[in-house]
Formats: sequence, structure tokens, C-alpha cells
Amino acid sequence: MLGSRAYEPDRDINSPNRNISPVSSEINEEGKLMVGGCQLSELAKKFGTPLYVLDELSLRTACKTYLQALRKHYPGESLPLYASKANSSLAICSLIASEGFGLDAVSEGELLTALKGGVERERIVFHGNNKSDKELKFAHQNNVTVVLDNFHDIEKLKRIASENKPANLMLRLTPGIECHTHEYIRTGHLDSKFGFDPDEVENVLKELKRFKWANLTGLHAHIGSQIFETQPHIDLADVMADTMKMAKEIGHPITNLNLGGGLGIKYNQEDNPPSIEKWVEVISKAVVEACNKRKLDLPKLMCEPGRSLVASSGLTIYEIGAKKVVPGIRKYVCVDGGMSDNPRPITYQSEYTACLVDKSLSSDLEEVTIAGKHCESGDVLLKDFPLPPCESGDFLAVFGTGAYNYSMSSNYNRIPRPATVMVNDGFVELTQRRELPEDLLQLDVLPDRFITKN
Ligand code: LLP
Repeated sequence: MLGSRAYEPDRDINSPNRNISPVSSEINEEGKLMVGGCQLSELAKKFGTPLYVLDELSLRTACKTYLQALRKHYPGESLPLYASKANSSLAICSLIASEGFGLDAVSEGELLTALKGGVERERIVFHGNNKSDKELKFAHQNNVTVVLDNFHDIEKLKRIASENKPANLMLRLTPGIECHTHEYIRTGHLDSKFGFDPDEVENVLKELKRFKWANLTGLHAHIGSQIFETQPHIDLADVMADTMKMAKEIGHPITNLNLGGGLGIKYNQEDNPPSIEKWVEVISKAVVEACNKRKLDLPKLMCEPGRSLVASSGLTIYEIGAKKVVPGIRKYVCVDGGMSDNPRPITYQSEYTACLVDKSLSSDLEEVTIAGKHCESGDVLLKDFPLPPCESGDFLAVFGTGAYNYSMSSNYNRIPRPATVMVNDGFVELTQRRELPEDLLQLDVLPDRFITKN
């Protein structure tokens, strides 16, 4: 529960991931919730609902905090990359590039968005456990660094890269590190589809030495997402430094070390993730120590935050519609979106925090279950959550939806995707227009023989 009132803004100004709502959130004299100087109920009326809202200040603050912390705590060169799977759009790519970030992409779509959004190609890395020829050619033509995930990548690149145009490569390994997060979003443990198994790494490094087209500069690992502990990243630095040493002995001086992303955010009052600065400090010290112990030169330190960069800058506004009371059991309040714009609750049982944007000061609370509008009983966004009594037509904000919502959205039930707006200092700009039912029909092809004559 959010204290005694329905809504109380948090205030960790420098680390947006430790706030449930965007850092610019405030309640005006009329008790209405504002973000980026814009009243949320006015945005809902102007742009319609559901509506994704991104707070530019939160996004820029998170970027700046990562960069400043790396400069403060890591004595060598560093480059943070935005994991664009969290939320890929031209506006976000352009914003993170303007802050000095590079980017991690996992498909031609994400690569194209990054390139068109103005991210420098030399600062883009291309991941994926099953890259296609077309994707690899596109990445190679654009001088993007390819992260080798398996032998399949090597076989394909043999035919694409050449001595005249070598491929810049990093090698991803499965570090065998367990961390406490949902099993679907854990990637570093040994039973994972991502990266080379530790037992294969020596052979791969030796094999790459034979290829003139292969320019191996770095190592990569990612251990999972929404992680609150820091010990797994300390352990990871050790595993990676061992591999750097092995690579050096085989003749690959490793100059880039990418430790992935994973820092968690605060979705509800119980969540207590480390700050961005603390996380960067821990990984920086761990890498320095691990390299010193093995007498290795300090590599350029890379990391790939996704969620901790964008999630807390985002919220989704819904309009409340139907209600249903199941006597003695539950009160359902239905909104005009749900699992198609936020599939995380139904996929991972993820928890969220919400408030009624124009009734945020009320302390008269009742437990309600916020249900989506899709034809699926599991389409529930928040279960038994305390809210002031609400009417049809009220607007509800669900916080922390800036990451893995739009990027995982679907058109289930042929429901069009919401628009996205970015707010800052009293200004609002559309960064993604709302899909229309007609947009969905544009991809349909009706074979001639199905066309009826009348
Ligand atoms: N680097 C790699 C190679 C990754 O696979 C990921 C996330 C990241 C970086 C960024 O991790 P982050 O900083 O966002 O934790 N759909 C799930 C999350 C899947 C994460 C996949 N990989 C969710 O909604 O929780």
C-alpha cells in the first residue's frame, strides 16, 4: 500500500529505478497528478487511452547517472549501451544517443531503429541466439559489432565477412551464475540457450585465431534481469577475467568487456533495488580487482541497462469502464487496455502500483482488481490493490511501464497498440502514434478467390 494516501511520490532524484513513479511526478493544488509538468488527465483527454507516457527527465537522469558513475568509479574507458529490447523507438534511441550511450540490438528492426534514431554505428552491438543471414549481413554492412553466440554465427559470418572487410566481434559466454529472479528472465545459468558453454570457449578462441575475417575485441555475458543482488555481478567479473586471461594467452588481447544489464527497479513498496551509482560502483570495483589479480590491462567497461534506464520513466494511463462485484470475493474494475499493452502480469505474475490520477490524495481506500478488456480470465493488471472508490470515466495510471510493455505488446483480440507521448517541463510530444484498426488490416491479404462479387 502507498502509505496512508492513495499516492505518494518517491524521491530518489538521482536514481529513477528506485522510484515507483517518474522523478518529475507532483500533485498540483487540485490534487491532480502531474508528470513532466503535464496533468495526466489532460493528456488522457487529448491523446486518448490507453496512453504510454514517458518522462524525459527520468530518462535523461538515468542516462546521466550511469555515465557519471562510470566516470567516477571506473579508472579505465567505459561505454554504457542501452538494451533497446526494453523499449525501442526513434525518440528513445535519439535521446540515449544524445546522452552519450551506445546501444544493444537483437534484430534487424531494432538495428534499423537505432541507426535511423542516430546512434553511432560503432557504438552498436548486435546480439541474438539465432541470427539470420539477412540480419548478419545488415549488421556487417553497417559496421556494427556482432556478439557471437554460437557456432552457427561463426559459420554464417565466414561467408559474409572477408579479410578486406573483417567483422568486429565479441564473444558471449554462459557464465554459470545463478541469481534470484523469475526463471524466464535468468540467462547466465548453465542451462541457458544463450552464449557459448564455458567448456567450448577455449576451442572457439583457438578457432577464431585461424580466421583473417574475425576481429575479436571483446567478451560479453548477461546474467538476468530485475536483479536486486550485487554479488552475482562480482562473481561474473571473476569469470570474465579468467576468460580474458585465457583469450590473451591464445593471442586475443581483449579490450572490451561487456557485463550485460540486469539492475532491477522498484515496482511496488517492498522492492528495494540498489541505486544506479551503487550498481556501477560494484561492477567497476569488481572488474578492477579481477584484472589486477590476473595482471591484465583494464578493458573498456561496457554494460547494457534496459529496464533500469526506461521502466520508471514510463506509466500507462487507462480509462476505467465496467465494474463487477463478486459478493464476498472480489471487486473487478475494468480498464480499456490490459494484456496486449502490458503482458508482464500474465507472463511473469509481475506486480505493479497504480493510482487514480485525479484522486491521488484520497485516503478512503478499497481493494479492487484491475482487469483488462481481453477475452482471457488471466487478463488482470493488478490484483486486490487499494484504490479510492472509482467511477467509470476516471483515469488510472499504472507506473513502471516504460520497459518491456510497448516492446512486448501485441494485437491480441485485434486491439491496436496505444500511442506514446514524451513529457518534459510542461510540454508534451507524440513519439509514437496510436495504431488504428485499419493499420492492422493493412497487413492482411485477401486472395482473389475469396472476394465475393456483391
Ligand atoms: N543485455 C542482454 C544480452 C539481455 O538479454 C538483456 C535483457 C539486457 C541486456 C537488459 O537487461 P535489463 O537491464 O533490462 O534487465 N521481458 C522480461 C525481461 C527480459 C530481459 C531480456 N534480456 C521482463 O519483462 O521482465
